[in-house]
Amino acid sequence: MAPSISREKLVSLTENKTVRILPIIRSFERKDQLACQNIFKDGYQEFIKSITVIYLSFLVRYIVMAAMFAILAAVIWSAWIFVVVVVMACMVLAFIYIHLQLTGWFYINHTLNSGDLKDIEESYMSIQQSHLWVAELNGRVVGMVGLIHEENFEQGVYELKRMYVVPSCRGMGIAKNLINELISHTKTNRIKLVFLKTTSTLVPAIQLYMKNGFTFSSADLNGKLTDVPVISKRNLPQDIHLKLEISSLAAP
Ligand SMILES: CC(C)(COP(=O)(O)OP(=O)(O)OC[C@H]1O[C@@H](n2cnc3c(N)ncnc32)[C@H](O)[C@@H]1OP(=O)(O)O)[C@@H](O)C(=O)NCCC(=O)NCCS
Repeated sequence: MAPSISREKLVSLTENKTVRILPIIRSFERKDQLACQNIFKDGYQEFIKSITVIYLSFLVRYIVMAAMFAILAAVIWSAWIFVVVVVMACMVLAFIYIHLQLTGWFYINHTLNSGDLKDIEESYMSIQQSHLWVAELNGRVVGMVGLIHEENFEQGVYELKRMYVVPSCRGMGIAKNLINELISHTKTNRIKLVFLKTTSTLVPAIQLYMKNGFTFSSADLNGKLTDVPVISKRNLPQDIHLKLEISSLAAP
């Protein structure tokens, strides 16, 4: 397994005499297990919250239109029509809300209790060339990214997974450093292809991947063709498949 790698740690800002501590990017260690699980849990809950807002605001547009017809119908026929439409609209919104929260809750529980984050050491650090890196700031884990090879993947094909940075540390270049570490690992370990699956609403993540050489893939890993995605924080979420051909990158 690759040894822990550390980057420049301290930068003295001589102009204002303050000392800024930059994050260290290093390999996962057993003691990071709980911190990584919590970063994933909080990050996924944040994602569920954002797509809940997108779905509900999308539906509200249609509900307002339906309510206008219902008001008209109530004036012409009976007020009950309006009451029925309002009750039905509330039921649809509640159903969508509960469905999204439950789906998120099940996914988090599955990942933490029987998925790759149940035992990170076993999932990422004991399978050849799979790896998970963490970003540590002031002794606290504030970000992570994993690279994993699963049994059904072709040889030399890996998946980038679990890219998260805690909200208070975003925009500091942490994800960029994590990806750099991952890419240099792929080059030294002769990995051919890295792919990942994300969602069209995660604009910062997509920008991050594209800036680091990832391109859209027109098919998923099983060869199933995928639609051309619309990248937007407001549109309904779509799955996006991205790939990075390591041979297309400059040598280490
Ligand atoms: C996506 C994420 C990992 C980026 O982490 P970060 O440490 O803030 O990113 P960095 O500061 O290293 O920025 C690297 C690049 O990402 C892109 N980026 C980061 N934040 C962005 C934002 N708010 N809007 C647009 N692009 C953004 C930019 O291309 C940036 O490069 P630049 O600074 O040269 O313009 C972070 O926002 C996050 O954890 N989001 C929630 C979880 C998530 O979406 N994970 C991905 C799952 S597939």
